Amino acid sequence: MLAAVALVATALAVPAAASDNGLSIRPAMGWSSWSFVRRWPDENKIKAQADALVSSGLAAKGFVYVNLDDFYQKCDSNGFVVDSYGRWAVDTAKFPSGIKALADYVHAKGLKFGFYVTPGIAKNAVTANKPIEGTSYHAQDIADTTQTHKNYNCKNMYRLKYSHPGAQAFINSWANQMASWGVDYLKIDGADATTIADVEAWDKALRQTGRPINFALSNNLPIAQADTWKRLANSWRTQGDVECYCGSGPNGSGYPLTDWSHVVSRFNSAASWQPYAGPGGWNDYDSLQIGNGDQVGLTADQRRSHMTHWAMAASPLLLGTDLTALTSVDLAMLKNDRLIAVNQDGVAAQRIVNSGVNQVWRKREPGGDYIVALYNTGTSGNSTVSVTWSQVGFTGPAAVTNLWSGASEGTVSSSYSATLRPGETRLIRVRPAGQRYEAENAAISQGAAESNHSGFSGTGFVNGDNVAGSYVEFTVNAAAAGTATLTLRYANGTSINRPMTIDVDGTTITRDFPGTGNWDTWADSAFTVSLNAGANTVRATATTANGGPNLDYLDVS
Ligand code: GCU
Ligand code: CA
Repeated sequence: MLAAVALVATALAVPAAASDNGLSIRPAMGWSSWSFVRRWPDENKIKAQADALVSSGLAAKGFVYVNLDDFYQKCDSNGFVVDSYGRWAVDTAKFPSGIKALADYVHAKGLKFGFYVTPGIAKNAVTANKPIEGTSYHAQDIADTTQTHKNYNCKNMYRLKYSHPGAQAFINSWANQMASWGVDYLKIDGADATTIADVEAWDKALRQTGRPINFALSNNLPIAQADTWKRLANSWRTQGDVECYCGSGPNGSGYPLTDWSHVVSRFNSAASWQPYAGPGGWNDYDSLQIGNGDQVGLTADQRRSHMTHWAMAASPLLLGTDLTALTSVDLAMLKNDRLIAVNQDGVAAQRIVNSGVNQVWRKREPGGDYIVALYNTGTSGNSTVSVTWSQVGFTGPAAVTNLWSGASEGTVSSSYSATLRPGETRLIRVRPAGQRYEAENAAISQGAAESNHSGFSGTGFVNGDNVAGSYVEFTVNAAAAGTATLTLRYANGTSINRPMTIDVDGTTITRDFPGTGNWDTWADSAFTVSLNAGANTVRATATTANGGPNLDYLDVS
């Protein structure tokens, strides 16, 4: 019974595994038609954006998806016009050469092609009782005409009866058509808590095509089902649209595309959704409105904060702007390799300061660097934003690099602050002079990570079995070969020395670990060793039947 309870607790603490479709190991980068092109896509406009993605140099930086969003279809008064197998018909006035020709054009430029759909089956397919491709079923066998889905365009999408085998066959036929056209990315819009069966059906359908198709969910997905979205898809929109629909064109289209309130509202969303991001599955904070200067609805400071936050959150970077009218200031923002690297490290940052207009976010990259973003999210007045290294997650001095400018800011001892204009950000890479390796994260032989004494760093310490030979082995990365100071933090609540041997890459020394008074009192044992460049193993092994002391961490400097 106890074991079962412990298992449940573990399952809750660890976020679900990502989709195993093998796609989007890093957040997708590219362009989507929705923000700027909006309801009026056509093949020439999409080709022009694809051309610009390449000629601007953005494709070479990794912005490779060209995603055609809604409004490529044709409506009549009953909803979507459909093809012979009941799938949405493409509007041939907008795409006279067809979608395959457009995807071929995109592919010929070294880019990838994205497409759009919403759940269900069109009313026109059901009224005409269209056959389901490759089966003896028809639309009326699989449609639930009592219920419709959310749809933002022609509407009239009936729900599907997934208990009937023809429903999956219908989705498969649609996915097969997309695969045959060369679709590399599919956004399913109108997904919500009531469409899990639809998302599952589309996931299955895309997989059975055999073509790798990055699967994206939209929009405002409920966090209560986050594990489900993560299992089924490669990204999921956490909120409604970033567009303000406050432009001067029809339905609020045109400039401005967004405003600061729509961007900054994503910060709260990112704080909640942070645990769910990781290789194969990303929190999508919606399109990046950078490219056309201030007319997008954001100041240059706000645009840098926008890019900073999407990079910190490891969100897909899908531009919404008009790539045929890029400004030089914005192009420089988008081509900043240091920002792209922060996005593509695949680590979603956590918020550690949220006080009035001030926010600070941090993440730790696998190589041991911390990335820290400080924001003044206000719209008037400067603000001084501060953070300590211990809030970031380490102690001791660190080398700081300003990631927007690339300038080194030298060594900073214990805290960092910046006075920022309204909407401005400071993004820094922080490389601690020393590295800390928590014992509870090391390899343990004959012992266990525990937390039943106080004063430890990290999430606990290691209690080695009280036998000779129990050990903890750390893997220590050194930037260069040379002498390093190792500091083992330990507690020994007995009055008897508990010696250990320390093996570093085959060289062995013996250290004493005398009593520290009690098990809550920790002491440092420092010694020098020589390390190789790259990975080194440091093993601390008990040499007596009393075992070793409790071990908290190993610091390397
Ligand atoms: C106690 C103490 C442990 C310690 C052990 C020991 O059980 O709670 O943390 O490891 O003594 O003597 O090794
Ligand atoms: Ca012990």
